Amino acid sequence: MTLLFDTHTHLDAARFNEDREEVIQRAYDAGVKLMINIGCDRESIPTTMALAEKYSFIYAAVGWHPVDSIHMKPEDLDWIEELCSHPKVVAIGEMGLDYHWDTSPKEVQHRVFREQIRLARKVNKPIVIHNREAHEDIIRILKEEKASEIGGVMHCFSGSLETAKQCLDMNFYLSFGGPVTYKNARVPKEVLAAVPLHRILIETDSPYLTPHPFRGKRNESSYVALVANAAAEIRGISLEELAQITTENGKKCFRMD
Ligand code: NI
Repeated sequence: MTLLFDTHTHLDAARFNEDREEVIQRAYDAGVKLMINIGCDRESIPTTMALAEKYSFIYAAVGWHPVDSIHMKPEDLDWIEELCSHPKVVAIGEMGLDYHWDTSPKEVQHRVFREQIRLARKVNKPIVIHNREAHEDIIRILKEEKASEIGGVMHCFSGSLETAKQCLDMNFYLSFGGPVTYKNARVPKEVLAAVPLHRILIETDSPYLTPHPFRGKRNESSYVALVANAAAEIRGISLEELAQITTENGKKCFRMD
């Protein structure tokens, strides 16, 4: 059976409160035998840790989301650092910059982003990057903070091929989600078609970014199979091969052995 790795999901989200266990079971039964849940604020970090402790196949990333930068206190960074010694915590994030929602001023976002990269270098963990309409500043800060020493993943990559190359040069993997299943999503498909196969990951970002044909409905981790299918087609390889390669890539990226 095809083994899939959903490298970015938010199973703790309130939209799963009614049926979280069924959603997780459905993903597992669909072959999603590894998942990374993202805890990225004061509420979602404890629920992420609880999920990682309950399910052997769910791992955790913990960090601070850029839209919520304004609420991160110094003790939150200490909290994240402590959690990094937990055996199920494989990465710090999601972190980064979001210029779409202006809930946190840019200079606060930059500071919180830099602090988390420094922490990741200190504890030697890969990082999960959220980038919305901030390509240039993301690349600049990653360079300035020497993020290539730890690497990680550009989650739901939405940049150009040029940006993709810069990320690859800094030891980052590129993760693709629901948009590669959309008819009108030309750029992510072109990037996915052009980058090295051994640097590609797949994800759902559930409950957001639902793949075709469920677009508009709630996303869930079992739908990573739809992303895998689309990615295999774009790369001209079998689903089995795509699944195997991306799962291996994910294990390497997050140093899970
Ligand atoms: Ni996310």
